[in-house]
Amino acid sequence: MIGILEPEISCLKGEDMSKVNRIANAWLHVEDGIIVDFGPMTNCPDLNVETRDVQGQWVMPGFVDSHTHMVFAGPRHNEYVMRLKGKTYAEIAVEGGGIINSSKRLQLMSEDELYDKSMKYAYEAIQGGTCALEIKSGYGLNVESEIKMLRVIKRMKETLPILVRSTFLGAHAIPPEYKENREAYIELIINEMLPKIAEESLADFVDVFCDEGFFSVDETNKILQAAQKYGLIPKIHGNELGITGGVQVAVANKALSVDHLEHIGEEEIACLKNSDTMPVALPGSSFFLKIPYTPARRIIDSGLPIAIASDFNPGSSPCHNLWFIWSLACLYNGMLPEEGFNALTINAAKAMGIEQQYGSITRGKKSCIIITGPFEHINEMPYWFSKNQAYKVLFK
Ligand code: NIG
Ligand code: FE
Repeated sequence: MIGILEPEISCLKGEDMSKVNRIANAWLHVEDGIIVDFGPMTNCPDLNVETRDVQGQWVMPGFVDSHTHMVFAGPRHNEYVMRLKGKTYAEIAVEGGGIINSSKRLQLMSEDELYDKSMKYAYEAIQGGTCALEIKSGYGLNVESEIKMLRVIKRMKETLPILVRSTFLGAHAIPPEYKENREAYIELIINEMLPKIAEESLADFVDVFCDEGFFSVDETNKILQAAQKYGLIPKIHGNELGITGGVQVAVANKALSVDHLEHIGEEEIACLKNSDTMPVALPGSSFFLKIPYTPARRIIDSGLPIAIASDFNPGSSPCHNLWFIWSLACLYNGMLPEEGFNALTINAAKAMGIEQQYGSITRGKKSCIIITGPFEHINEMPYWFSKNQAYKVLFK
């Protein structure tokens, strides 16, 4: 059994990220979806409860996917081929493709159809061991369609057997009809979308794509300030396309996480050190867009924590397989297998604000468990790249 932590540990930083506590030949007692107790078989209590023998296999905490765009209308394989022929993600976005392309399709789709499509992806992710999931809006880009997306996420929250958190990402792109008047779109977000979202309790978090060609630091700050008045906690897309102040605005607004960070300098690292904001790397989008990988090695070596997530979406990361994301993080972000494990469990839980209940084998936490294996060593988990290692996933 691996991933055992004391309850007071909320995340792992720096050198501690390479530590994974384990008990070889262990027992685990769960009741009503909660971890009651565990220990080595040498002191296994004699309880009158239903038992399951997983001898030879590995037991670990379920994965937490703290960053996804799981609700979307369809794939963007045409843009994939455009990129194969040499166009960049940014060039496609400027020409009205990218997020705008996805929003046009989503605006035309019914809530029921969107729900059915998204649930299919969610169940695939669950089979891979995902036990908690964050899902963003951001392909609606008008009041009606942003609300439609968030209602779909709310239904997923109510019907999936795992924990779902919802993020309002109205500031994902400027819709074409506001191209000449960005200010008016920001006013729409603040004065029309946010009040409606609050009225129906449709979101836990607020996100802004603060990057070159998308939203400026000032615009980001304005939206975050307004959203916080409704109780939404910030989580930011920052520094994917350049060093643009995303880290600083996230930290100034006490964001739970700042995600992407493919471009990050010493100033950003220093800024994160003085904060409680979790840096999150998204290796799937670096892989798929062939852009730089977030320098996780440098971030960890400077004493910081880091989480990793799938960024599952139709444009930059059509992959929710966290086993593959783990392998990418080792091969290209410079992480060790143990660091990847902690980045996908306890640190990812912190990036979603659920570390009190998820992310480790800890007495009192949810008994969301992956049963894998057998393995010779934890190194093998990301070594067999792209293989789903979850033989069984338990939620209760
Ligand atoms: O995290 N960078 C912004 N948003 C998504 C991509 C969205 C899309 O291309 O559809 C991301 O990579
Ligand atoms: Fe994203």
